[in-house]
Amino acid sequence: MSGMHHMLVHFPLGFWALATLMILVGTLLPGRMAELNHIALLPVLVLSLLAALVAIISGLMVWPLEASTASPLARNHILTALWSLGVFTMLTVLVWRAGSSAFVGASRWVLLLLALIGIAIFATTGTIGGHLVGATTQFSELLKLFGWDVYHTFFVPTWVIGVMVLIGVACAVVGLRGRRTAS
Ligand code: HEM
Repeated sequence: MSGMHHMLVHFPLGFWALATLMILVGTLLPGRMAELNHIALLPVLVLSLLAALVAIISGLMVWPLEASTASPLARNHILTALWSLGVFTMLTVLVWRAGSSAFVGASRWVLLLLALIGIAIFATTGTIGGHLVGATTQFSELLKLFGWDVYHTFFVPTWVIGVMVLIGVACAVVGLRGRRTAS
């Protein structure tokens, strides 16, 4: 399954990179070029999610689960793979629900921000994958500058999780209020 995983991971990485580029073009460029990207974005995002599920399943089959979860490097790889899936699932739902108004007004900046967060996380997933097969890159040196060595289990203090939950609740309240005001 190792060779299969190496091959399959190119699909989510490629689709996620393409979706991010399309969001950049759709947000920052005017005219027909932007319109074409708005129309084609949803199918690319849906394909990226399907490809990610296949990559994750194949990844879980490379080593026995006990081995993967015993290694901090592999644990970090699983964590960032699932985060990437989470961010791009959010983007897919937003683009799908908003339809033709996804790039209207402030929502385009939300899409752009999420896409930039997503690209940073999936680049980290690929980088850690490289470490797992002994092919290291300078990207992990950059992560070290931000205070994270990929060989140590990623750790978030409990208070940060608390702040994140509060931000999530605040966003939900703002969203619900906005919907009520609009209707
Ligand atoms: C979207 C999800 C994922 C992506 C994009 C991804 C990406 C990668 C990449 C780029 C590599 C290096 C392959 C190479 O250099 O040819 C790799 C290796 C690896 N990945 Fe993933 N991965 C994903 C999910 C997972 C998951 C969920 C696991 C579960 C444990 C996993 C386990 C592994 C293992 C064990 C290796 C090393 C393979 C070996 O020893 O030959 N991956 N991955």
